[in-house]
This record gives sequence, C-alpha cells and structure tokens, in this order.
Amino acid sequence: MGLSQDNAPIYEALVKHKRNNVVRLDVPGHKGGRGNKELRDFLGAECMKADVNSMKPLDNLCHPVSVIRDAETLAAEAFGANQAFFMVNGTTASVQAMIMSVCKAGDKIIMPRNVHRSAINALVVCGAIPVYINPGINKKLGIPLGMSVSDVERAIKENPDAKAVLVNNPTYYGICSNLSEIVRIAHENDMLVLCDEAHGTHFYFGDNLPINGMKAGADMAAVSVHKTGGSLTQSSFLLCASTVSEGYVRQVINLTQTTSGSYLLLVSLDLARKNLYLNGKEIFKKTIAYADYARSEINRLGGFYAFGKELIDGDTVFDFDSTKVSVHTRAMGLAGVEVYDILRDEYDIQIEFGDIGNVLAIVSAGDRELEIERFISALYDMKRIYSKDPTGMFDHEYINPVVVIPPQQAFYSNKKSLPIEKSAGEICGEFVMCYPPGIPILAPGEKITKEILSYIAYSKEKGCFLTGTEDMKIENINVVSML
Ligand SMILES: Cc1ncc(COP(=O)(O)O)c(C=O)c1O
Repeated sequence: MGLSQDNAPIYEALVKHKRNNVVRLDVPGHKGGRGNKELRDFLGAECMKADVNSMKPLDNLCHPVSVIRDAETLAAEAFGANQAFFMVNGTTASVQAMIMSVCKAGDKIIMPRNVHRSAINALVVCGAIPVYINPGINKKLGIPLGMSVSDVERAIKENPDAKAVLVNNPTYYGICSNLSEIVRIAHENDMLVLCDEAHGTHFYFGDNLPINGMKAGADMAAVSVHKTGGSLTQSSFLLCASTVSEGYVRQVINLTQTTSGSYLLLVSLDLARKNLYLNGKEIFKKTIAYADYARSEINRLGGFYAFGKELIDGDTVFDFDSTKVSVHTRAMGLAGVEVYDILRDEYDIQIEFGDIGNVLAIVSAGDRELEIERFISALYDMKRIYSKDPTGMFDHEYINPVVVIPPQQAFYSNKKSLPIEKSAGEICGEFVMCYPPGIPILAPGEKITKEILSYIAYSKEKGCFLTGTEDMKIENINVVSML
C-alpha cells in the first residue's frame, strides 16, 4: 500500500507495538514504566510505554529499512528534499553532520562569524578551517545581520578551494541573507551550500515567509523541528538535496549519533511532519498574525521597538521572518537581559532570550491570544515602572573578532589559564558565549581584545548566562600558551 502525508509510519508502528503487549526482555530497563513508578506517574504510563528501543517492527535509526525509512521518505517529500534524516541529538548534531559531511581536516568552509556554537564545534572536531564573513551590523539595535552577497562573492573568489558556504537562514533575530543568490554564486564556483535553519522550520510550510533552503537550491539544511515545528525538544531534521550522497551522510551522522535513538523523539518528528504538511499554512498564518499584532501594539507603546520588515535593505537584511517578535529595549534604559529577567521573575513570562539590547519572544503554533496579550501588557507595565534614562548604556552588541589560528589548533594547543581581565592580547583557547543565543563572543583561536573583555564584563554584570570556559565561574580563561 502506498504511503501518503496522512500516514505517520513510526507512530502507526508504535501504536501496533503497544497493542501487542510484547514481553520486554530488552532495554530500556524501566520496562514500560514498571521499573520507575515515580517517573511513570510524572510522565504518564502511555509515554513510558512508547519509550522503547529499536526492534524489528520498529526499525533502526542507524540503518533504517522499514518504518523509519518510510517516515524519512515522507519527511523528505514534505520538505521538498531528496533525503531527510531523523536526528535525535538536537540540531547541533544536524549542523555538525552537515559540516563534517563536506569538510575534512584542513578543508576551508565559508561562514558568517555569527554562527551557533555547534558550527564552530564541528570545526574543532573535524579540523576544517573557517573563512569567516563578518555579518552586517545594525548599530542602533546592536545586532548582527545577514551576509552581504558581495562579501560572500569576495570570500569565494579569494578562497576558490573552499568546499562550502554555510548560511544562517534565518538568524536568531529572524534576519535572512539573500540565500538564492548565494546558492547561485557558490554553485557556479563548485561549492556546496549548507543552511543552518534551526529557526526556520516554518519557512517550509507557511506563506509570506522567507525562502527555505531546499527551495533556494541549498545542498543541505539543518532544521530544528523542535523549535517552531511542534516536535519534542532535541528532535531535528537534516535535509539533503540530490547533490550529496545519502549513504555517506548517514555514515557521518553515525560517527556521533546515539545507537539508541529515542522513539519519543522519533514519533514526535513523524507526527510534527504530518501536522505541518496538513495544517502548516493555517498554523503559520495565525502565528504571523499574532506576531504582527504584538509588534504593532508594542510599537504603539513607544520606548520599546519591535522590529520587523522595515529593516529589509535588499542586502544584509534581505528578508525578515515575521514570526519572530524581537524587541529592542535600550531606549527604555534597560538591557534586554534585564527585561528578560523582569518578565520571568515579576510577570511569570518566559521568553526565548534577552541579550544586551534586545529580547526575543517566539510565537508558534501553541500560542493563544491570551499569551500575546500578557506579553504586551507586561511590557506596558514595565515601561511605567522600570524605564530609566538610557544615557551611558553599553551600546554595542556584536563585535567581529580577529581569527589568529584555526579553532581545532587552538583548542588542542598547550594552554594556560589566566584571570579573564588580564587576558587582553592573548589567543583564546576555548569558547565564551551567552546562552542563548549561543553565538560565541570568543571562539578558540581568536584574539582577546579589551573591547571584547568589556563586553563580557558588561554581559556578566547584567546577568547574561555565560558559558563555554573550563572555569564554570567564567573568572579565568584558557589562552594558547605555545603555538
Ligand atoms: C542557529 C542555531 N543553530 C543550531 C542550534 C542547535 O540546536 P539544538 O539546540 O537543537 O542542538 C541552535 C540552538 O539554539 C541555534 O540557535
């Protein structure tokens, strides 16, 4: 019998499996929840029964030949790809599999510097060499933008041996580069295009949204279905065009992905794909309407600035994802992270992140008018209670760092630990970043400057969640001691 998008092969196989009451003499050892009653009571018996390991009727994620294979085929069709891999180690694993599928040690890859840590981590693991493109910067908002096509073109001309170009589609703030043009130029020069679409699942299903990677002709795309597509946290798709070898990509995925793929995550991807295919248009129409409404109400308040499509300039802001409610807070005398904290602590509203000058609220399928109104009225209240004179506030958010040596060389070099405030002029041997957004402020191999140190100090003072250094308190930093 042929399969259609109404089917969900992993889900259907799990339903059958649960009905069969199979004797469980395999892992997981909780045996459908009987072995951990407190967890079963918390998560629910049905959930525990679906937490199984791979077996004949349920296929195997490392080498799928039946229901996972079918589910992947349906996902590929739904996303307009040649192949879709079900990923259970987060989009981190999808980004890393993309990079490691096209680059070996010493190969160059062109990418914007404002990539997520997972991309630079991949370089530490596989030894590829980044050719960074400094993204455009909006000075007023203090945010990194997309890549200018002319900068990509220059990087390609100067590095004709590079294997690929990686593009954020979109950035965390919802900003898109001119992906179709970048694909055209990269392909003309025999380079592949990889899209980090951690924040772009909805581009594949909604109307009036930026172009998605597969449609633009990219070769691979890492898509965080768990972020805006409705699947469970940590589940993701890696999409491939016919220009890459499916078998080789699977081998690369299997270098690091678990051999015990969670069926909770797999079934969530299967059902999310079905829902997105059948209902995505409606879902994202509603999402955009909520986000547009939130933007216009927030901007009517004055002070806070919810930015949107007016930023589009045909170049470093080629397009904008209007489902993202990004709000600039500095004119209110408040750092984004302060607004983030006040919303959480005083108003019980959890938003996606706050940085030095902005906050980001994610609006998606699960939202109702109620949540949007609570967010708007909290900002209204905050304007009255918390706003202050912004004079003297730190006014730059994103600093393009200088790369001295490649990430892998720096990470594995001999290092010494220094008090962070005494490290200016040294080469960084590890990462420093605020999480979220997880874009490194410093990555291994980059020059530590006074400007970067004052940015880190300010982020700390304002309460950003800093991570990355071996020292959990971020008081000391590992620097390269010998090249
Ligand atoms: C741009 C970008 N890429 C990749 C990732 C990694 O996704 P995950 O957390 O699913 O591993 C993130 C996570 O926030 C991200 O923002």
